[in-house]
Amino acid sequence: MGRLDGKVALVTGSARGQGEAEARLFSEEGASVVVADVRKDEGTKVAAEIAETGGNAEFVHLDTTDAEAWEKAVRNTVSSFGKLDILVNNAAIWKGEGGIEDIASETWDVLFNVNCKAAFLGMQAAIPEMRRVGGGSIINVGSTLARHGAATSAAYSGAKAALALVTRSAALQYASEKIRVNIIHPGSINTPMLREGTHGKHLDIANRIPIGRLGQPIDIAYGALYLAGDEASFVTGIELVIDGGTQA
Ligand SMILES: NC(=O)c1ccc[n+]([C@@H]2O[C@H](COP(=O)([O-])OP(=O)(O)OC[C@H]3O[C@@H](n4cnc5c(N)ncnc54)[C@H](O)[C@@H]3O)[C@@H](O)[C@H]2O)c1
Repeated sequence: MGRLDGKVALVTGSARGQGEAEARLFSEEGASVVVADVRKDEGTKVAAEIAETGGNAEFVHLDTTDAEAWEKAVRNTVSSFGKLDILVNNAAIWKGEGGIEDIASETWDVLFNVNCKAAFLGMQAAIPEMRRVGGGSIINVGSTLARHGAATSAAYSGAKAALALVTRSAALQYASEKIRVNIIHPGSINTPMLREGTHGKHLDIANRIPIGRLGQPIDIAYGALYLAGDEASFVTGIELVIDGGTQA
């Protein structure tokens, strides 16, 4: 018995990093999985590898900032797998911003669009399908940077903090329909985002983490697995910090 047997999940940004780990783990636990990303080659490969090991998976090209593309992705999911139970709004970007006076107006808009508004668009597209089957689980992905200031990440932090409050508002709105909405705040996780964003200096960060190592994508995937499944049926509106003790 898998912990997600019979469920259907769509994971954004699952061509690599944490989203990839979530897609693979959800499949191992019995879910049919839609791998959604703008990276076609990597995403297709992840879905194909899941299918090779006996899972149900398909890739869909999805730019999460595009409302029409969301409608199509949800439609495809339902036509392939019959329904949608789990949505992980994981896709995001982290780019060097600089201080307030350095942030270009376009950079601000891109970071808020991809890192906050896109999850709202995803929820809008997915909730009617979850309502149709009597419930669902939405997992948004924030950051520990949503919970404290960061001198050179005001736009990224601000967008993720906004997403946390959007999450809690949605949780209240949809609790009576058994659609749960939670957010995970990862700390420093060893993914392409962290390696690229720190220009390969990611291992230096490990010294500042109480547990003494960087997080791995699977550390976040296990948290997402818990929130996705029925074991968490009484859990909504929470902010789950997974950061090796950094914010203790
Ligand atoms: N890695 C970390 O240390 C860290 C820390 C805190 C929070 N996070 C958050 O965790 C999540 C996953 O990050 P990661 O480290 O795995 O990143 P990653 O860059 O390794 O992977 C992100 C994936 O999202 C996809 N993506 C980006 N924009 C997209 C869009 N508009 N539409 C569709 N796909 C898009 C990318 O193509 C990529 O495959 C993000 O929400 C990130 O902000 C990461």
